[in-house]
Amino acid sequence: MKVYDAILLRRSIRRFKQVPIGINLLKKFVNAGRLAPSAANLQPLEFFIINNEELCSEIFKTLSWAGYIKPKWTPSMKERPTAYIIVLVTDVNNNYYMRDVSLATENIILAAEEENIGSCILCNIERDKIRKILKIPKNIEIDSVIALGYKAEYPVVEDLKDSIKYWRDKNEILHVPKRKLDNIIHINNYKIKYFF
Ligand SMILES: Cc1cc2nc3c(=O)[nH]c(=O)nc-3n(C[C@H](O)[C@H](O)[C@H](O)COP(=O)(O)O)c2cc1C
Repeated sequence: MKVYDAILLRRSIRRFKQVPIGINLLKKFVNAGRLAPSAANLQPLEFFIINNEELCSEIFKTLSWAGYIKPKWTPSMKERPTAYIIVLVTDVNNNYYMRDVSLATENIILAAEEENIGSCILCNIERDKIRKILKIPKNIEIDSVIALGYKAEYPVVEDLKDSIKYWRDKNEILHVPKRKLDNIIHINNYKIKYFF
C-alpha cells in the first residue's frame, strides 16, 4: 500500500472483529513509532503493548468512545479492540514531547492501516486506573491509548458542511466531516478562509 493511500483510507475505527493481532505485527507498529522524527532526537517515548485478553478487558473499562455520538455509545462485547498500544512519556519537561507523541502515533496508525488493521487514538482515558492496572511508575506519563483490531466498520469522509461532529446514519455508517481543501489552503497569497 502506498503511504498516501493509507492516509486517505485511514479512519478512526471503533468496531473491531474479534480476531487477535499477532505480536510480531504489534511490534512492527511500535517499531514504526520508534523511528518517527523526535525533537532534538531526545526520544522521550516508550510503548506498552497489551494483547492479553484479561488486560484488554481491564483497559477497555478506562476508555471513552465517540463523544459526539448520542446517546453515549461504547463498543459491544463483540466489537472491542483486540490489542492496545499505550504511549508513555519518560520526560514531560521536554517541551516538544506532544509533537513526538503525535508523530509516533501517526506512524503507528498508518503502519496498522497498511496491514488492514483499524485504529483509534484515545485521550479521553482514565490514566490513574491505567497506571494501577499496568503498574506504571509515577514518574512515567501515560499520554494516550491506541486501540487496535481488524476492522468491523468502514467510516466515510465527507466535506464539512455545517458541523464538525461525526455522525452515524440509519445503517450505522459513521460519517466524518473534514474541512475542504480549498478552505484550508493558501497559495502564495493569504486569503481569509471560510471554516465551512
Ligand atoms: C488527540 C486525539 C484524541 C482522541 N481521543 C479520542 C477518544 O478519547 N475517544 C474516541 O472515540 N476518539 C478519539 N479520537 C479520535 C477522533 O475522534 C477522530 O480522529 C476524529 O473524529 C476524526 O476522525 P478520523 O480519525 O476518522 O479522521 C482522538 C483523536 C485524537 C487525534
